[in-house]
Amino acid sequence: MNITVIGSGNMGSGFVKQLKKAGHDVRVAGRDAEKARKVAAQFGARAVDAEEAAAADVLILATGYADAVPALEALGSLQGKIVVDITNPLTADYMGLTIGHTTSAAEEIAKAFPGARIVKAFNTVFAQVLAEGADFGKGQVVPVFVAGDDAQAKQTVSEIARSIGFDAIDAGPLKNARYLEPLAGLNIYLGYGAGLGTNIAPTWLRKA
Ligand SMILES: NC(=O)c1ccc[n+]([C@@H]2O[C@H](COP(=O)([O-])OP(=O)(O)OC[C@H]3O[C@@H](n4cnc5c(N)ncnc54)[C@H](OP(=O)(O)O)[C@@H]3O)[C@@H](O)[C@H]2O)c1
Repeated sequence: MNITVIGSGNMGSGFVKQLKKAGHDVRVAGRDAEKARKVAAQFGARAVDAEEAAAADVLILATGYADAVPALEALGSLQGKIVVDITNPLTADYMGLTIGHTTSAAEEIAKAFPGARIVKAFNTVFAQVLAEGADFGKGQVVPVFVAGDDAQAKQTVSEIARSIGFDAIDAGPLKNARYLEPLAGLNIYLGYGAGLGTNIAPTWLRKA
């Protein structure tokens, strides 16, 4: 699949690594062209300009939430594009959320780009887990919660998640990003605040 990763930081580089390994056609669009080129070169992907970035079938938004709308605006029309929103609207100390309850980062981004098909996913996966892989041993596989209002777009994002080794859990409509973003907040608290480290991931148990 043609996929553009927007952002070349912790999450962006993890996506480029895993998506290339899985055989996808991966483009990298960064604010800092040199940094994007370096990440692309490291994993055999291509750093691209805005036009080429927007031409991919799927765009993975791997910027901070505050940079999300400007980063997408720079790419021109996103009509019909699948945009995977992995952001968490975190406070400066990473221990809280700046929005929630009545909206979410994903819904705010969707409002800004009404023609795009926004799917919330991967926001509960730590960058280290993304980079190192979803296999946690003993049959445990890290899940990606996938929320969105476009069934086909959700299916595509779920397939991408599975292609790089994750389970995909259908988490309902985009509005449920209001649950997924606080879930990531709890994960961050457990990882950093409570000292469990970043080799953890939230999942859902089902009695056998
Ligand atoms: N880190 C995690 O474990 C984790 C887990 C789940 C979700 N998330 C979410 O994933 C997102 C990225 O997190 P991160 O840890 O990867 O952050 P990061 O390392 O700071 O990377 C953010 C990247 O976005 C780029 N960027 C900013 N504005 C841009 C623009 N206009 N166009 C293109 N690229 C732009 C930055 O470019 P520069 O290099 O020029 O600054 C940087 O490369 C955040 O929303 C975060 O909440 C993170």
